[in-house]
Amino acid sequence: MKALVVRNLMYSYPDGRKALDGVNLELDEGMRVCLAGKNGSGKTTLFLNIDGLLDGDGFIAVGGIERSARTMTRIRRYVGFLFSEVEHQFIMTDLLNDVILSVGDEAPGVEAKKECAMEWLERFDLERHADRNPLDLSTGEMKRAALAGVLARRPGLLLLDEPLGGLDRENGEKLAAMLCTLPTTMLIATHRRFMVDEVATHVAVMEEGRINGFYEKKKALRRKDVVDLLF
Ligand SMILES: Nc1ncnc2c1ncn2[C@@H]1O[C@H](COP(=O)(O)OP(=O)(O)OP(=O)(O)O)[C@@H](O)[C@H]1O
Ligand SMILES: [Mg+2]
Repeated sequence: MKALVVRNLMYSYPDGRKALDGVNLELDEGMRVCLAGKNGSGKTTLFLNIDGLLDGDGFIAVGGIERSARTMTRIRRYVGFLFSEVEHQFIMTDLLNDVILSVGDEAPGVEAKKECAMEWLERFDLERHADRNPLDLSTGEMKRAALAGVLARRPGLLLLDEPLGGLDRENGEKLAAMLCTLPTTMLIATHRRFMVDEVATHVAVMEEGRINGFYEKKKALRRKDVVDLLF
């Protein structure tokens, strides 16, 4: 089974701007694919469609679930989406409860959920911020906090939009190392060579609303057109 299948996906924003112009993309389970592309090429718009927040024309199946009105809830549960602007991601006014909300039923009972949430916070070195308002955290702390919440749901497909944004070198390296320990299929929108070097198994190139190339990491890094998109 494919972790993600997107076929001929089209999307225009209400103002008429065409952002996706026939996207085709398939991800096998366990792939970690960096999505490289210039500003405005459609990366975020593609993520919003995969997660069901926008409803462009075309075919999308996530973890074998075909997108339809009926399957939307299941798809949204399967997909974990880290926004590039993570302040939109928090629901509760304290971090621990925000992550607890994400912990599914695999941890039955309040105490078990709390313990599980605390473990995620520890993994991101955030346990001392457990009772703070997520919106009062620094940019990098907030990014890690949002990711803890996304991962606590144990998504089958992770969409990470510019995950290095706002992180310092140490936390960027920690994040990359942590992502590599996850079995989860990932699509990572990024402009950073570091992400490709450390995390990707493959690179997809997005250009003007289409995927114009899909390469194994080693091959991607030998291509000037790919390397030119990264810094
Ligand atoms: N809410 C919106 N309304 C109208 N047009 C939009 C909206 N959001 C994005 N666009 C347009 O859609 C196109 C794709 O934008 P998108 O945000 O998906 O690009 P991106 O690849 O994520 O870029 P970046 O690297 O800057 O994050 C761009 O031309 C952008 O101007
Ligand atoms: Mg974007």
